[in-house]
Amino acid sequence: MKIWIIYHTKHGNCERVCEELKSILSGKFDVSSADITKINPEDIANDLPDLLIVGSRIIIGRPDKKVKKFVNKLGSILQNPISKAATIYTHYLKWESNYAKMANLLEDNKIANEILPEILNIKMIKMKGPAEPGQENNINEFAEKVSDFIEK
Ligand SMILES: Cc1cc2nc3c(=O)[nH]c(=O)nc-3n(C[C@H](O)[C@H](O)[C@H](O)COP(=O)(O)O)c2cc1C
Repeated sequence: MKIWIIYHTKHGNCERVCEELKSILSGKFDVSSADITKINPEDIANDLPDLLIVGSRIIIGRPDKKVKKFVNKLGSILQNPISKAATIYTHYLKWESNYAKMANLLEDNKIANEILPEILNIKMIKMKGPAEPGQENNINEFAEKVSDFIEK
């Protein structure tokens, strides 16, 4: 099973979370990951992953615009939707459910047939990070949910 994890990071926090998840999932699956500024949507479309995971920081109450732009472009070039998708966010303020807009974007752009309802949201201790301590458990639990989701 092939997984792609895409993200954008400004201060390194979203990258750390996504790369940690990658290292856990790599024990079981073929996982690729990249900052969206270093790849093209065609790289994902050509690879046809079974699952796409999208990670973004929250900025002014919304997911990062660069990630949104990448997802829009991906939607315009995909021949068929990817089977499944999941979402990750890093944020500083108290988590609010209306932050979770990436799932809507994935749906609106017909990126995936099914989106994991559980999201991984990792809170920072300061505006620019680092993450609150003890996030390893959350990342491990999310990796288990992703494994079950991709295999079901
Ligand atoms: C200009 C700016 C605006 C931000 N706005 C929000 C916000 O509205 N809500 C929130 O929870 N975090 C906000 N943050 C915190 C970021 O979400 C946090 O720095 C980010 O998750 C870290 O990810 P990164 O290190 O991968 O860039 C903001 C950070 C910056 C620098």
